[in-house]
Amino acid sequence: MTSDTSTTAANATLSASAGRQVVVMGGSSGIGEATATLFAADGAEVVITGRSQDKLDQAVGRIGGKTGSYRMDATDQADISAFFEHSGPIDHLVIAVSGAAGGGPFATLDLAELAAGFDGKFWPQVRILQAALPRLSRDGSVTLITAASARAAFPGTAGLAAINGALEAMVPPLATELAPLRINAVSPGVIDTPWWDRVPAEQRQALFDGLAASSPVGRVGRPQDVARAIHALATNGFITGVVLDCTGGANLPTGR
Ligand SMILES: NC(=O)c1ccc[n+]([C@@H]2O[C@H](COP(=O)([O-])OP(=O)(O)OC[C@H]3O[C@@H](n4cnc5c(N)ncnc54)[C@H](OP(=O)(O)O)[C@@H]3O)[C@@H](O)[C@H]2O)c1
Repeated sequence: MTSDTSTTAANATLSASAGRQVVVMGGSSGIGEATATLFAADGAEVVITGRSQDKLDQAVGRIGGKTGSYRMDATDQADISAFFEHSGPIDHLVIAVSGAAGGGPFATLDLAELAAGFDGKFWPQVRILQAALPRLSRDGSVTLITAASARAAFPGTAGLAAINGALEAMVPPLATELAPLRINAVSPGVIDTPWWDRVPAEQRQALFDGLAASSPVGRVGRPQDVARAIHALATNGFITGVVLDCTGGANLPTGR
């Protein structure tokens, strides 16, 4: 018998995040906010970041617990450096900053838009991870947020596949190079967050209804679905180098 077998049900229900320091980059909305909410409810001390102070203030009010905020632009290296210069030790870092550019039919894809897509999502995640390294606990974790477009083969998503696929490709080598720090990613399918506010409401609903009808679980995702996946990866000390799909099965091959 190993000592693990002495774990009781009571021990197993103890908070996995009590007293842990968590930073959620892009935590004032959608997936990031749901993740900050879950960690805060689990006893962590959380800092959320974003560009809009108003959005940060409102999110801190909704999240509650021991939550603070820091306004910064994740596309600005000076902002990133300043944040980590002033930061204390970090146990779990989640990078949920969103970008939107880079999609569309390849034949007419404006390559400046594709470059903007990398600037809005790939480079912020890479810059944040590198700048955070001196602050991250040895037994801590980093969770990147990619997207199912990385491997979905949908027409019109080659640019998004490049941006998110590049991030996903970095996860296994970073997990070995930066060990014992753990590096994982969650790859969401379509999730109903404010990211979709850019699409007119009627068109958005029709899109969600169509996706729900063809999805194995019969619905699009909620930010809380992805937050649970992020929390699970961050708090399980035996998982690293993993890209976890959180798509409701929408990315499964059907053989068609
Ligand atoms: N929603 C989906 O269907 C879906 C699907 C697959 C992957 N994802 C990925 O999931 C992640 C989170 O997306 P979401 O749907 O939760 O988006 P969201 O609701 O738009 O939230 C994005 C968060 O990032 C912050 N942010 C955006 N640009 C930033 C910048 N340059 N610097 C600092 N903060 C910035 C936003 O605050 P400010 O605007 O105030 O800066 C906000 O807090 C993204 O990486 C996205 O690509 C989403």
